[in-house]
Amino acid sequence: MKILAIESSCDETAAAVVEDGRKVLSSVIASQVKEHIVYGGVVPEIASRMHTQAISGVVSKALEDAKVTYGDLDAIAVTYAPGLIGALLVGVNFAKGLSYSTGLPLVPVHHLRSHIAANYITHPELEPPFLCLVVSGGHSHIVAVNSYTDFTIIGRTRDDAAGECMDKAARAMGLPYPGGVNLDRISVDGDPSAYKLPRPHVDGSEYDFSFSGLKTAVVNTIHNAKQKGLEISIPDLGAACIETVADCLVKNTVKAAEEYGFKKIALAGGVSANSRLRARMKAVCEEKGWELYMPELSLCGDNAAMVGAQGYYEFLNKNVAGLELNAYATMPIDEQI
Ligand code: KG4
Ligand code: ZN
Repeated sequence: MKILAIESSCDETAAAVVEDGRKVLSSVIASQVKEHIVYGGVVPEIASRMHTQAISGVVSKALEDAKVTYGDLDAIAVTYAPGLIGALLVGVNFAKGLSYSTGLPLVPVHHLRSHIAANYITHPELEPPFLCLVVSGGHSHIVAVNSYTDFTIIGRTRDDAAGECMDKAARAMGLPYPGGVNLDRISVDGDPSAYKLPRPHVDGSEYDFSFSGLKTAVVNTIHNAKQKGLEISIPDLGAACIETVADCLVKNTVKAAEEYGFKKIALAGGVSANSRLRARMKAVCEEKGWELYMPELSLCGDNAAMVGAQGYYEFLNKNVAGLELNAYATMPIDEQI
């Protein structure tokens, strides 16, 4: 079964053709990083406009690269939530138009579910159930993946997402957007013990996270050093920040895996590209004898191949939408329209 998948939830316009959920026949990504860099972050109105300009060409290229026409396809999958509403609407409306004109079924795909599904492409042997740490620019969740389409949220952030925290910390350190990526690069040789940053404690659920205090601590460290005329080592402060985020993510994931009896762990989302998080997760899973699954780096960030992967399982689960399909800025991973 061949699915054309479309993704436009944030600042990448992407299309892909994926066969049977696991085989990527093509994957095209038009990144908007250059447009947003001068603003230090994604400007939603610019993102929507750029998606509108790019989407037609990106979809044509995906079909061309896969050497297929609409007649070879079985369905059209599209990210409908969560994300920037104006950006999502571009992909959703384009997919609706294609579905109407070709008669192909329209499959709505949740963005975080698709991040998890990136692992099915990298690891063809992976099947639920497993525990997944989903960490992106907008979300930080520990999720029990009960089946391809059934999820239980075990832990979540109470405030900022892990990616958002690192983006803001990077910005305070004067690093260009996209912050998390640049923070990772500059911190590789830093000494994480050079700065003491707080490990937030969250009352209530022992699996929840809180990252807004960490971001404030980084900003205050820089501010205090400036006032005293002291030099800040950006690689060291960056390494301390990443280590703290990784500490919280790894600690809670391990706790959840032990409590819920998971021995198969996966990472997903843009932050799963972080070198320190990958290394820490690998070390702890080796120590515990657990299997660890991580998407290859090219599938960690937003792309449409992962939408095609999840779209396949949503389609098998009879999750097909009509032309009334809408986009939603927020939507819990355990809900589906
Ligand atoms: O999943 P994603 O591409 O978009 C959202 O759905 O949000 O995640 C983007 C987030 C951004 O916060 C970005 O800075 C972060 O992932 N990120 C990283 C790395 N690569 C991307 N954070 C830390 N280290 C990285 N290597
Ligand atoms: Zn994403």
